[in-house]
Amino acid sequence: MSAAEIKMVRSTAEINRENLEAVLRGRFFYAPAFDLYGGVSGLYDYGPPGCAFQANVIDVWRKHFILEEDMLEVDCTMLTPFEVLKTSGHVDKFSDWMCRDFNTGEIFRADHLVEEVLEARLKGDKEARGLLEDANASAQEDNNKKKRKNKVKQIKAVKLEDDVVKEYEEILAKIDGYSGEELGQLMEKYNVGNPVTGESLEAPRAFNLMFETAIGPSGQLRGFLRPETAQGQFLNFNKLLEFNNSKTPFASASIGKSFRNEISPRAGLLRVREFLMAEIEHFLDPEDKSHPRFAEVKDTKLSFLPREVQQAGSTEPIVMSIGEAVKTKLVDNETLGYFIARIAKFLLTIGVDETKMRFRQHMANEMAHYAADCWDGELKTSYGWIECVGCADRSAYDLTVHSNKTKQKLVVRQKLDTPVEVKKWEIDLTKKLFGPKFRKDAPKVEAYLLNLSQAELKAKSEELKANEKIIFQVDGIEGNLELDGNFITIEERTKTEHVREFVPNVIEPSFGIGRIIYSVFEHSFWNRPEDTARSVLSFPPLVAPSKVLLVPLSNHKDLAPITAQISKLLRAEKIPFKVDDSGVSIGKRYARNDELGTPFGITIDFASIKDGSVTLRERDSTKQVRGSATDIIGAIREITYNGVSWDEGTKDLAPFVSQSETV
Ligand code: ATP
Ligand code: GLY
Repeated sequence: MSAAEIKMVRSTAEINRENLEAVLRGRFFYAPAFDLYGGVSGLYDYGPPGCAFQANVIDVWRKHFILEEDMLEVDCTMLTPFEVLKTSGHVDKFSDWMCRDFNTGEIFRADHLVEEVLEARLKGDKEARGLLEDANASAQEDNNKKKRKNKVKQIKAVKLEDDVVKEYEEILAKIDGYSGEELGQLMEKYNVGNPVTGESLEAPRAFNLMFETAIGPSGQLRGFLRPETAQGQFLNFNKLLEFNNSKTPFASASIGKSFRNEISPRAGLLRVREFLMAEIEHFLDPEDKSHPRFAEVKDTKLSFLPREVQQAGSTEPIVMSIGEAVKTKLVDNETLGYFIARIAKFLLTIGVDETKMRFRQHMANEMAHYAADCWDGELKTSYGWIECVGCADRSAYDLTVHSNKTKQKLVVRQKLDTPVEVKKWEIDLTKKLFGPKFRKDAPKVEAYLLNLSQAELKAKSEELKANEKIIFQVDGIEGNLELDGNFITIEERTKTEHVREFVPNVIEPSFGIGRIIYSVFEHSFWNRPEDTARSVLSFPPLVAPSKVLLVPLSNHKDLAPITAQISKLLRAEKIPFKVDDSGVSIGKRYARNDELGTPFGITIDFASIKDGSVTLRERDSTKQVRGSATDIIGAIREITYNGVSWDEGTKDLAPFVSQSETV
């Protein structure tokens, strides 16, 4: 089969998840963690091919984003104090809706439950409609009237009315946007309860997804395992800005584990409680969201699912170029658009199927508490469309809340070519009175007052005017503090400014590496039509765990020196390979490696001893060519690392016909 035909088979065949999981677990890509102890849902360990695949994906990610865009990488701690996540809003708002079955004690995530139940009913309805058609068609021949009536009655019991089907479809299109209360109403209206017993459940209530812990032996410093890597990047903003010579825009990036106590993780690697994230925070001027390299990506064609389309109950995407999407304001700005296009390119590079990728805009209700606009890179899997990359405009939310809380400025200062006149609230302190009144606390009180925002200064000035004093609290000092006009003056003054000061906005592409990896597994998996028991994982060579299988035709001792010599050459080229000199048939050895996604096989036979030539086999087409070890390794290097096609990379090598595919 040609490469295009193989791609078609992979794209269109319905995935046999059981079969895929058997291969992935059988070859130890990953396995449930602690399985000797019965396992814990949502926790997995990666085995050797899983680790190699993940390392290769991360390597591509670092090159594609960090190196290509000169991003500033940081590696921040996972243990995060309570105060940081309280300020960021996660303590109060980072939750999903759960509902409990009082009788069985089972716990369900409300939106997933409604989705699952309605989808199952729609599936039942579709089958029933088919069966009904068949039953009607065979009505004439069926002379047992009673039997026929019963059959039709059974089928009608699962068939839905047309308007109910439409309602279900509309709800499913909007499923990510419902509040807890709305989900509760849907559950009541459509009788959604425990899927096994049918019993009704308690109303949905918010469950915070963070794992809480105590830092240090006293147990007094409350903390959490971080739910995202982003906060560490925001808290290092001033250092990063200085590192970047105080210039914006710039981006930071971080790769590391995050933790979420998911309510009921049942979708394998897609929903886990500990996962690897790769996140970018791109800091930019809120008044200029253009991107200098946008022209390079503007013609990229993508599938978009806008908010309005979902709101109207549809999931039909719109295909257009990212240039057009930004021009028509479907995507808010060039920088957001630039990242969406770059995310798509990254996903395609590591093996995502283009026909199973779309960008879905968040609905207003669905957006995280910090986001102003958000597009998810979604990949289609046997579990449905799954969010694998979030791309959010977090506006100035995070820097503002951390700055307000810590009273530290998190701003960019930009020298102005022409000075401007601005009106500004200012506070003057009569410092000599502060020491006697506040003693050792005086510096804290002064710092608090000098860091008040413009809005706070305005409010305090009005308070001073009305009450002839202001009342306030300062972190770390007990009780209310009071000051009158002898201590402070607050005025709005006109100033000439030579420098513009602004809090940058943030565009954040956030990648869940495990979800992406699992989707690539599904998109790469197929069975050979000529022998459906033979499975293949068609990874792009760049990310395949191992690149070459070195197979001596037999374990005859005369073949060993050439195997050693080629191993040495591959090691020198830093091309990952495995030797398989087991006695099993060569077809079996190839089949084993097809399941590991190894793109190339080098076969050493008795002719190799005479003339030094070896055979190169390509995993997907099983095509073979023959040449010297150096030429073959050269072709592998070009195809794997330099994006050269098989036909181009092997054009100077001789075609080779062999019987070796027989298992
Ligand atoms: P979902 O709605 O599916 O729970 P989310 O909207 O909470 O996902 P984000 O908060 O946007 O996800 O997280 C950013 C990225 O982190 C996601 O795009 C996804 O790839 C990944 N991610 C989030 N939660 C998990 C999880 N439990 N397991 C694996 N990856 C996850
Ligand atoms: N940092 C983005 C997220 O966790 O959703």
